[in-house]
Amino acid sequence: MKKEINILAIESSCDDTSAAVISDGYLLSNVVAGQKVHESYGGVVPELASRAHQQNIIPVVHEALKQSGIDKKDLSAIAFTRGPGLMGSLMVGTSFAKGFALSLDIPLIDVNHLQAHILAHFIKTKEEGAKVPEFPFICLLVSGGNSQIVLVKNPDEMEIIGQTIDDAAGEAFDKCAKVMGLPYPGGPIIDRLSKEGNHKAFTLAKPNIADYNYSFSGLKTSFLYLLRDELKKDPNFIENNKNDLCASLQYTIIEILMSKLRKAVKDLNIKHVAVAGGVSANSGLRNAFEDYAQRYKWNIYIPKFSYTTDNGAMVAMAGYFKYLKGEFCSIDLPPYSRVEM
Ligand code: KG4
Repeated sequence: MKKEINILAIESSCDDTSAAVISDGYLLSNVVAGQKVHESYGGVVPELASRAHQQNIIPVVHEALKQSGIDKKDLSAIAFTRGPGLMGSLMVGTSFAKGFALSLDIPLIDVNHLQAHILAHFIKTKEEGAKVPEFPFICLLVSGGNSQIVLVKNPDEMEIIGQTIDDAAGEAFDKCAKVMGLPYPGGPIIDRLSKEGNHKAFTLAKPNIADYNYSFSGLKTSFLYLLRDELKKDPNFIENNKNDLCASLQYTIIEILMSKLRKAVKDLNIKHVAVAGGVSANSGLRNAFEDYAQRYKWNIYIPKFSYTTDNGAMVAMAGYFKYLKGEFCSIDLPPYSRVEM
């Protein structure tokens, strides 16, 4: 009888410790432990993140295996996020994956975190299928650390055709939230408050840069200056206008993201368009995708909420694709912090 392909995947690139088990391409479990320790700092503190990963990794892996019903002796391989991400965080997941694979005498699979976000569209369970994008497709990858337009030719052939030259979209959400006194991560809070606000209340700067690249630093500065000037006139300006500020900010970020994406879709004449990464949880961005699908006849692919932010399931999916091609890595492969694809 053919043996099942069972892969345990580990994700630890930033501030979520996650493990997942996939069997013959079907996800069996996906356990994510977030880290509350960063909330009061207004952003992820790398040293605290790696320490929390060390505390979380064993219980998270244990729980993922338990929920999957797969015994560790029946694992075929271990996949892990190799990068990009925070070096200290990556070291924890990478070292754990290596030690575990060595002790079980099974192969290791290194996974690119950004590719994994994109391949989250292929995650399926026995109960629920996936609306799988057709190749080639264009993916808007927007997270706390990255904002890119990626041409996806195959599961293992992706080309970054545009990217941010400064801040990522998620960073713009989080940093602007911070100056309004909102806790980290600010993206989901801005999303919620925006629903009650007027997006036309304030006009914010939009960048004018070449090709399919993004920039969010000008927007961030214009938001900061708006607050500085208005607070001089009214010390309660933020409190009195919070919903409108959030709605205007969110609207501008989405406009910036969608205008470059539309240009890429038009120029490349590829009508299969996906969105991935933490910011793809944003309701305004999801609505904009639906709207563009109607207006420009795009076939759109929006991930399930649970697969938008960092998770082991997407690493498991990417690992499974690599397993099928026999792409394993050596035990001495180091993690990397900067964008590679
Ligand atoms: O992909 P992710 O979990 O981590 C990285 O790999 O960076 O993305 C986290 C980012 C944060 O910046 C967070 O504020 C943002 O995704 N985010 C959102 C929403 N949910 C998460 N931004 C806007 N609206 C949301 N609903």
